[in-house]
Amino acid sequence: MPNAKIVGIGHYVPDTVYTNDDLAKHMDTSDEWITERTGIKERRYAKKHEETTTTLAANAARNACKDAGIEVEDIDFIVFATLSPDYYFPGSGVLLQRELGITKTEIGALDIRNQCSGFVYGISVADQFIKSGMYKNILLVGAEMHSMGLDYSTKGRGVTVIFGDGAGAVILQPTDDPDQGILTTHLHSDGTHAEHLAMINPGSHGGYHLGKEQFGYEENDKPGDVFITQKMYEEGLYPNMTGQLVFKTAIKKFPEVINEALNATNLNVENIDLLIPHQANLRISQFVQKTLRLPDEKVFSNIQKYGNTTAASIPIAMSEAYQAGKLEKGKLLCIAAFGSGFTWGSALIRL
Ligand code: UT7
Repeated sequence: MPNAKIVGIGHYVPDTVYTNDDLAKHMDTSDEWITERTGIKERRYAKKHEETTTTLAANAARNACKDAGIEVEDIDFIVFATLSPDYYFPGSGVLLQRELGITKTEIGALDIRNQCSGFVYGISVADQFIKSGMYKNILLVGAEMHSMGLDYSTKGRGVTVIFGDGAGAVILQPTDDPDQGILTTHLHSDGTHAEHLAMINPGSHGGYHLGKEQFGYEENDKPGDVFITQKMYEEGLYPNMTGQLVFKTAIKKFPEVINEALNATNLNVENIDLLIPHQANLRISQFVQKTLRLPDEKVFSNIQKYGNTTAASIPIAMSEAYQAGKLEKGKLLCIAAFGSGFTWGSALIRL
């Protein structure tokens, strides 16, 4: 059975830099608060009406193909992870296929909706398809255009300040070398807290799962029988997050799932050459680093520049680490993520 190996990495971030001070012009926040609580100094925002999640993804995908030395026509399957798709449906996978001009071969395109863990889930899915011999050139993309769906008033500050736009992509191919490529992947979920990091509209819930008190539904404010509720029209479509619950669960689950991957491969923390955690909050990464007792040079962070780009954060970080010479052949890379769902996962990759 072949292993799946990463043969190309690329990323793309939009040009527009939005600093903490820029956000403070719209909401009651400050550079000091954001830096202290999250480590974020700035993020990128895509050009509204010119760029979309799919166009960001296409740029990252072209860079990954170039790095892999393949043409886009060589791709035989697309896996697209995002929580901010161009449309509610169809998913962004087919839009990316069209954007890249891969129309003749009618390859399959799969959309992954696991938010911050989307890329790790995608790695696992791609790994299984390659191991089974089904595909030989998989394009896996994580891309987000959060800037179109955030609340820039003070009400939204607990969520808005941490998110940014960007895309990262990898190309995976089979290898017969058993010591190279994706060594193990571990995926988890726990739907108990699903609504605590969520964007619940549009959806078919009709208020079914939602506690009135928790989510502010008034007695006479009945969600509609359709996806779009009156409340949506009135209050916008903004994501909500119970930040502290997410934080506390994340710092527990990250080390757990990383250790799970190490145990499965009989490897130790010391064997990890580079850990790329999902870039959710610098404090979360620092907690994880401390728990695992990893030295600074073994944990990669770029959240200071981009904020939290959800499904895109790991591949963007991988691409930057690669460009900085930190992902040489033979190195052991660990990626791990935790986010909305809650879902979390890890992978160990021998480059
Ligand atoms: O990527 C998906 C997974 N997501 C995460 O991993 C995020 C996990 N959570 C977090 O990173 C943190 O919980 C946040 C960065 C979102 C928030 O930091 P916190 O230290 O947990 O702050 P908090 O929510 O406990 O709020 C503390 C105070 C509150 O004011 P009061 O009630 O103490 O007066 C908030 O209203 O800070 C206030 N606050 C802000 N103040 C200035 C919340 N957001 C802001 C803001 N600027 N942007």
